[in-house]
Amino acid sequence: MRITIRQEEERDYRRSEEIIREAFSYPGRIERGGIGCPYEHWMVHELRKRDGAGISLVAEADGVPAGYVICSRAQILVGDMDALSVTDIGPIGVLPVYQRKGIGKALFHAVLQRAAEAGYGAVMFFGRPEYCPRLGFVQAAGYGVSDRFGEISPAFLCKELKEGYLSAARGGRFFDSDIYDEKKHRDEVLEFDRQFGK
Ligand SMILES: CC(C)(COP(=O)(O)OP(=O)(O)OC[C@H]1O[C@@H](n2cnc3c(N)ncnc32)[C@H](O)[C@@H]1OP(=O)(O)O)[C@@H](O)C(=O)NCCC(=O)NCCS
Repeated sequence: MRITIRQEEERDYRRSEEIIREAFSYPGRIERGGIGCPYEHWMVHELRKRDGAGISLVAEADGVPAGYVICSRAQILVGDMDALSVTDIGPIGVLPVYQRKGIGKALFHAVLQRAAEAGYGAVMFFGRPEYCPRLGFVQAAGYGVSDRFGEISPAFLCKELKEGYLSAARGGRFFDSDIYDEKKHRDEVLEFDRQFGK
């Protein structure tokens, strides 16, 4: 199987959302947060309109779109210092039938390369702790960064793209796009999901 990664184009929008919706439709996901799988593809849709970082990639397996990732702009606020800019990865997903074939890994590597080319000093995001550390991501807590509520968790991950970039982040809080606030957008999300099939 040949994996290729390319920048998303407008003609991909609907398919990318379907890929993310399907990738996140695994057992347990629907219950989590009360919204579950419909939520992630709504985020993709919204990030194109606001807070996007200009990085959205389609992974093709032998020419067939099979995986997708989008990044957004985020900041770390430390005391009264200037905000430290980072990019946030996600949603990222691979169609279930294409999982465990190296597509997720290829997408993460491509994101890191694009983010570095765009000048970002680090990526920071909430990801799967059982999977992402295999790709070189480490816990944000190791750099002394917490989420916006001051919480830390094994799912809160990061990677420096410029050596030492996160040393200025110690004691800081991470502020990601408002679209990640699941509860805030519940009605909008459910309305959006009605456009998609079962
Ligand atoms: C997570 C996800 C993107 C991984 O994509 P993928 O194409 O299946 O992953 P890859 O085949 O590139 O796997 C890369 C490595 O992670 C491992 N891996 C993949 N999925 C894993 C899982 N769920 N648990 C533990 N390890 C996993 C692979 O074995 C591989 O390890 P190796 O390099 O040591 O052999 C995909 O499973 C998915 O879409 N999941 C549902 C959506 C989701 O949870 N997204 C958030 C991801 S942070």
